[in-house]
Amino acid sequence: MSPQAAVRSPLSLFELAGKVAVVTGASGAYGRVVSTALGALGCRLVLAGGSQESLAAAADDVAATGAEVRTVCRRPDSPADAEEIVSAAVRSFGAPHLLVVASGHNHPDKIEKMSLESWQAVIDANLRGPWLMARAFGEAVGDGGQGRKVLFVSSVRGRHGNNQGYSAYCPSKGGVDALTRVLATEWGPRGITVNAIAPTVFRSALTGWIYADDERGQAARQRNVARIPLGRLGEPEDLVGISVYLLSPASDFCTGQVIYVDGGYTAG
Ligand SMILES: NC(=O)c1ccc[n+]([C@@H]2O[C@H](COP(=O)([O-])OP(=O)(O)OC[C@H]3O[C@@H](n4cnc5c(N)ncnc54)[C@H](OP(=O)(O)O)[C@@H]3O)[C@@H](O)[C@H]2O)c1
Repeated sequence: MSPQAAVRSPLSLFELAGKVAVVTGASGAYGRVVSTALGALGCRLVLAGGSQESLAAAADDVAATGAEVRTVCRRPDSPADAEEIVSAAVRSFGAPHLLVVASGHNHPDKIEKMSLESWQAVIDANLRGPWLMARAFGEAVGDGGQGRKVLFVSSVRGRHGNNQGYSAYCPSKGGVDALTRVLATEWGPRGITVNAIAPTVFRSALTGWIYADDERGQAARQRNVARIPLGRLGEPEDLVGISVYLLSPASDFCTGQVIYVDGGYTAG
């Protein structure tokens, strides 16, 4: 887009009609809203996740926007899984323009109680998965990278510790931050941008325990809200605006950034 067109018609910076988007964790709270928003903007989507039933529900939301949508019942657990998720997009619509890795997992436990398997499962879901997806995306895109975009989901926990048993989750998200920066430098010359959003707590299956009415949930809510200048926890919808920005031409000169969407949590 010419600089003049951007100035005279700034909304055209958010034009995504016809783009092919792959979303992992599409059945999750964030994955579902970002997929639906991309559908509403005219993207063609491939949704990936581990459960056909919840994927079908997410696909219904996307299809209701009028968008074309396919589902792949796989998590990015292995090279073959990641390649199959991206190949499904290539077969249906062509090489993807956009990759959103919204799959993730946490299993908080004090370090002395956490098994190595449990630690590894969090690292694998949150760091190996994005790495595998990025690798499959880079291969599929080949030399035609210009204007393509990757969006990872980090967390304020990539930067801040947490004394609630996060010795796997925090390092996994710190790894996502580093992966964002390194791929931005590796792929910048190919014209591919790589960024991450880093939310604070928002409502999802992952954080259900924080919204529970038991003592642990109430204490966690109070603790978190007390640290958030805007005075509330997040909702998945709070992440849509920044995601659209980072996936659209509006962000063409923005890469390697971890952007906090946290009600000001990291400002204080
Ligand atoms: N909610 C928060 O407060 C918060 C804050 C900061 C960052 N995040 C990050 O936001 C992203 C989206 O999470 P969410 O909050 O929307 O949670 P969610 O609703 O639980 O969604 C997580 C998604 O990941 C998939 N998934 C679950 N376990 C997995 C595993 N072991 N390997 C691969 N995929 C797995 C789930 O689908 P299937 O089980 O069907 O595969 C689901 O689609 C995650 O990366 C999370 O770490 C969340």
